Amino acid sequence: MSDPLVCVVMGSKSDWGIMSRTDALLTEFEVPHECRVLSAHRTPKAACEYAEALEGRGVEVVICGAGAAAHLAGAFAAHSLLPVLGVPIPSSDLQGMDALLATVQMPGGMPVATLAIGKAGADNAALLAIQILAAKRPELRQKFAAYRQRRAEKVLAERLP
Ligand code: RP5
Repeated sequence: MSDPLVCVVMGSKSDWGIMSRTDALLTEFEVPHECRVLSAHRTPKAACEYAEALEGRGVEVVICGAGAAAHLAGAFAAHSLLPVLGVPIPSSDLQGMDALLATVQMPGGMPVATLAIGKAGADNAALLAIQILAAKRPELRQKFAAYRQRRAEKVLAERLP
């Protein structure tokens, strides 16, 4: 793949079970992207350096998946001017409610676009990134429109017993 337009970061390899869905959708739409494990708590310096370099590498959207006291998306928002999408991972005893609140409750002036907890959030983060990129890429917009159309047709074809 060419230089990444999207980077997908997660706080632990244990998040991959959910975040691989983001990777799969970006791959399906042929969006150049890269996936990395970096932690706001365990590797703060490396996470900061990686975030600061993204814009210069041509990346346009950042997706951060993290569980528990999830500060990854907020840290990326603090160290980059790129739009950051946060996926709360249900990896703790609180089943993602902790990560949801930690990700969504950013103070005013420092946005993180927070998706749903878990699988739906991982899927929607990829789709939202695609929508952002599609605003200036007619071919990608066309692919996204076709995807939405297929999903609508599937619903309309549903038959109840
Ligand atoms: C978070 O802590 C990670 O994003 C993960 O969801 C959670 C648990 O990490 P591991 O202990 O499985 O590495 O930082």
